[in-house]
Amino acid sequence: MRGNGYSPFFTFTMVILGIETSCDETSAGIVRDGEILSNIILTQTAHSDYGGVVPEIASREHTRFIVPIVNKALGEAQVDFGNIDAVAVTRGPGLIGCLLVGVSYARNLGLSLNIPVMGINHLEGHLATSLINNGDKFPLLCLIASGGHTSLVVVNGFREYNILGRTRDDAAGEAFDKVAKLLGISYPGGAKLDKLASEGNPDRYKFPSVKLKKGRWDFSFSGIKTAVSLKIKELGNRDEIKADIAAGFRKAAVAMLISRLRDAIECSRCRRFAVVGGVAQNSLLRSEAKLLSAECGIEYYFPPPNLCGDNGAMIALAGWLGIKHEVRNFEDFDAAPYLPLN
Ligand code: KG4
Ligand code: ZN
Repeated sequence: MRGNGYSPFFTFTMVILGIETSCDETSAGIVRDGEILSNIILTQTAHSDYGGVVPEIASREHTRFIVPIVNKALGEAQVDFGNIDAVAVTRGPGLIGCLLVGVSYARNLGLSLNIPVMGINHLEGHLATSLINNGDKFPLLCLIASGGHTSLVVVNGFREYNILGRTRDDAAGEAFDKVAKLLGISYPGGAKLDKLASEGNPDRYKFPSVKLKKGRWDFSFSGIKTAVSLKIKELGNRDEIKADIAAGFRKAAVAMLISRLRDAIECSRCRRFAVVGGVAQNSLLRSEAKLLSAECGIEYYFPPPNLCGDNGAMIALAGWLGIKHEVRNFEDFDAAPYLPLN
């Protein structure tokens, strides 16, 4: 797939349509000069019977919903196609069939409206939800914690990343979803497990939080997950233990995320940190981050819940930030399922 060769010319006000279809959210958002006018998110429910995202079903659902979701985003923002100056679309990383739906739609729209199309890295979309509020204050320590990614990144400037660590096995959200599944909670289970954990005793069952050498910022969730699985096998998956197991797991998983943040704050020059991605909605992570910020005397930021999970507005924001920083955004691009951050 090739670009449309459009040479962009920008007026002062810029309206961007952002499209996200990398996994199981079909989403579109409208951003005008960095301000979110609408953000419509459809989380596909067709996967719940399968205990996880089925790529082929996800692609078909995107095809089914992308047009009504974009129309809804336009309607809520009170703009029409003629008002859009550019389209920003997730080009990767993600599921190839899903990415292709968004990229093909965006390309066709760009051609028919004769407007430019930007291919956006999904992780830069998540990062944009904190950078949009960060002004030019760098370096910013950023934890990206989602269903597919867990990375600790120092952002030294726009598109200047130093990746300190990443997960060695499951992503944080993936671990929440898998433990939820072990407890019989339907997919996607992360948010439901969080709620259940709030009713439980986090100290009744203790699960190990892997300690790597100080200065090492990689994450690993498989040990905690196996410990939970063994405990459930030992005790039986009884309703009366579920909240305590959920609370014990959440405590261990959040401790891992917070300990890496603490180490990185101590070892870096960062005077502010942010947490982005679906797991940033976790209530314990939010309260522990608040304590960490007070303990270290540094600023912290979490996006509002509707910007944490996958959404179209964050993709439009990333496009807008690129334009603001005059980074070339309009090169040809393909859907890229393994696109790295750098
Ligand atoms: O960012 P996101 O929408 O998708 C990816 O880019 O992967 O993140 C989705 C992930 C899922 O694994 C979901 O279970 C998890 O975020 N999640 C949570 C919570 N809400 C969503 N995990 C823990 N606690 C939550 N409250
Ligand atoms: Zn995501």
